[in-house]
Amino acid sequence: MNPAARIHFLRDEIRRHEELYYVHAKPEITDAAFDALMSELRALEAAHPELLTVDSPTQRVGGRPAEGFAEVEHLQPMLSLDNAYHEEDLRAFDERVRKGLGVDRSPAYVAELKIDGLSMALTYEDGRLVRGATRGDGVRGEEVTQNVRTVRAIPLSLKGGPQGRVEIRGEVYLPKKNFERINQEQEDAGEPLYANPRNTAAGTLRNLDPALVAKRGLAAWMYQLVAEFDLSAEAPASVESHAQMLKDLAAWGLPVEPHWKRCAGIEDLVAFCNEWRDRRHSLAFETDGVVIKLDDPALRQRLGSTSKFPRWATAFKFPAEQKQAMLKSIEINIGRTGAATPFAMLEPTVVAGSTISMATLHNPDDIVRKDIRPGEMVIIEKAGDVIPRVVGPVDTDPARPTPRWVMPATCPRCGSALQKPEDEAVWRCDNSSCPSKLQRGLEHFASRGAMNIEGLGESLIWQLCKNGLIKSYADIYFLDAPTLEGMERMGKKSAAKVLAELEKSKSNDVWRLLYGLGIRHVGERGAQVLADHFGSIDAIEVASIEQLQSVHEIGPVLAASVRAYFDEPRNRELIAGLRKAGLKLVGEPKRAPEGSQPLAGRTYVITGELSGMSREDAQARLEALGAKVTNSVSTKTTALIVGADPGASKFEKASALGIPTKNEQEFMELLATAQPDNPRAR
Ligand code: IVH
Repeated sequence: MNPAARIHFLRDEIRRHEELYYVHAKPEITDAAFDALMSELRALEAAHPELLTVDSPTQRVGGRPAEGFAEVEHLQPMLSLDNAYHEEDLRAFDERVRKGLGVDRSPAYVAELKIDGLSMALTYEDGRLVRGATRGDGVRGEEVTQNVRTVRAIPLSLKGGPQGRVEIRGEVYLPKKNFERINQEQEDAGEPLYANPRNTAAGTLRNLDPALVAKRGLAAWMYQLVAEFDLSAEAPASVESHAQMLKDLAAWGLPVEPHWKRCAGIEDLVAFCNEWRDRRHSLAFETDGVVIKLDDPALRQRLGSTSKFPRWATAFKFPAEQKQAMLKSIEINIGRTGAATPFAMLEPTVVAGSTISMATLHNPDDIVRKDIRPGEMVIIEKAGDVIPRVVGPVDTDPARPTPRWVMPATCPRCGSALQKPEDEAVWRCDNSSCPSKLQRGLEHFASRGAMNIEGLGESLIWQLCKNGLIKSYADIYFLDAPTLEGMERMGKKSAAKVLAELEKSKSNDVWRLLYGLGIRHVGERGAQVLADHFGSIDAIEVASIEQLQSVHEIGPVLAASVRAYFDEPRNRELIAGLRKAGLKLVGEPKRAPEGSQPLAGRTYVITGELSGMSREDAQARLEALGAKVTNSVSTKTTALIVGADPGASKFEKASALGIPTKNEQEFMELLATAQPDNPRAR
């Protein structure tokens, strides 16, 4: 077989197995056999780079977007859904629909499971995935294409399927077992646990590193087709029914949650909702309800939408699952900011499919008001969230014999008096050298998401703090082998490993350090954005609030918090200490400095395959020269760069708007002449 044909065969075969595995959970071959197909394809593509295409399964993980995510407008607003909580609400919905349509009998509905994830809009152009965008505010979202491409349930190209441009909407989510795996890794490393799969999925999707996103193992279910050629309708004219559309999406290789059902009327619907209320925990993903949609697109159009919701659909929300459990004790956690938070230790109890031994509690005032007492049975609830909460006591008689709970007056760790400002609900330990704060802060500093110092987990940090061996984050870099070997459960080998990890962490990306410092409001993403913009800790340290706030995505609260952090002499000392320890405080320059960006102010769109480089590389080269690269042609486009097999719609739009085009050779000339040191570059 010639290489082109073999490559073609391998891509189809790999996609078929990806679909079997990631969409249908029915693998036909072993992981090893699958890996062998991938290796063969990689080797062939390396030997024949001219045959590499962006939709090859080897190209899922691309480079980091240079400057955060671009904002994009949705084809049609992404509406939300009205909610129904009880059977009566469902019947009332059906009645409104019948009244709106002027009919006596219930029309046909489609019931789908409501996926507890994030809505996502995928754009395919002539069958190729060109864009993935988050819902955002419903009108504008964020372009997260590079991250969406790593989701292996999502095809990079459709089997058959429509030509031109279509948008397909659905939900990206984190399967339960991947969430558990991630939290297990967090726990092993002594790091804080994620609250629930949805938040973890949301954070993951907005991470700037596609390689990390790929490792997390997101998945997707799609449920809606929106076509550009028919903006007025809720579904393209070619769609005869919602049920048929779901079948079409599945036939094109898109992931469609298979338990949907066409219901002949309201009784059928109610039965479906009740069935899944009881069965939902058997699924591999979290579902928080059932979405009910009119099946017939013509009827949908007759009902239309309010400004927020379509009138032809509603979401039935499952009730939160409640159980009784024995509250063994109420403990106090001191966080890295000193906040003292009570939490419940429970007799292990199974709720909503998992065993619970800890639960969150309300703030101390609420615990007293609700009269929750240790040593009694309490009601616990799990509402979608994986970490459950205590709702209240089972026995509410104020005269019952168990003693009432009172908030401890002192920090359980350092013994200082806990403080609470009049107008706040939070108690704090204000002792700046409380070992709990240092310990929690260091746990965060060393965590995988931050400095990623393997081996420096909860237990080791605890011992180091307890023995007074570290007083600041910088001190960990001055630890020596004998000291580490003297700690419990540490041998020569593990001590050497920790030292090597510490050494390695010194050259981490600057954003990791910035995030690790634990500045209030600075999450992983905020740190990445700041580091990308300012390039060094020193530049951030001296930036004014205005300068910080002028950065895209950095709001006033974050800016003020960063400024306040660096105004604190203790924190500047810490930075000096880290510098002395040899940490990297300056990032790699990302792009040519201002003034030497010969393509600044220009916007390019790339379509089709370039033989000399991947589209990502082409984009990176243009951006390095100051140009912007977008996905759709508009009047702002400077030129359309046209490779082999270009998308028809971009090409047509460019000619309609009179936008010039450049072929690959002209594009290469542009790159060659537009170097920063050539001021006459065009
Ligand atoms: S349809 C106009 N179907 O629930 C109709 N939404 O509460 C748009 N969701 O924003 C939504 N599973 O993120 C639809 N099978 C499903 C869904 C679903 C989850 C989410 C979606 C939407 C939210 C509304």
